[in-house]
Amino acid sequence: MEWRERYELGLARMDETHREFVAFCNELCSVAPENFLARLDAFIEHTAAHFDQENRWMEAVNFPACHRAEHDRVLDVIREVRQRVEQGDAFLGRRLLEELPPWFDNHVDTMDAALAFYLKEIGFDTEACALPTGSTAQGTAAGCACQSTPEGVETCRNP
Ligand SMILES: [Fe+2]
Ligand SMILES: [Fe+2]
Repeated sequence: MEWRERYELGLARMDETHREFVAFCNELCSVAPENFLARLDAFIEHTAAHFDQENRWMEAVNFPACHRAEHDRVLDVIREVRQRVEQGDAFLGRRLLEELPPWFDNHVDTMDAALAFYLKEIGFDTEACALPTGSTAQGTAAGCACQSTPEGVETCRNP
């Protein structure tokens, strides 16, 4: 999985976390089979923290909840795959690694891009997880126009 310029959304903390996400995906693709589960666990931990970080920011600015729901859904899928891999289903682990890059590509382009755009616009402090003093921006984020495809995958446009 290659890092692309359009993945840079201009929020330092978010971009750094996304670079780590890509590095994890690449590492998982080449890790020795006997180490796969341990590295998958590390990836799950990182992804939970990655999603949590964005969820906290969204909560602080009252951002539409569909982005959070997407995080929860994806994390559930990854954890489910982890259980199946532990039970011996290595194929499903490989399928997950094929699915993650296109999912990430779409998620960064849509939901994360919308969030980054909004947070930058209102001058949100991602380190302090706080709005700038005196800001009245809370609760003004637009909806994220999500649609479910027949496969149950949510696709979203920038508001
Ligand atoms: Fe993200
Ligand atoms: Fe996200």
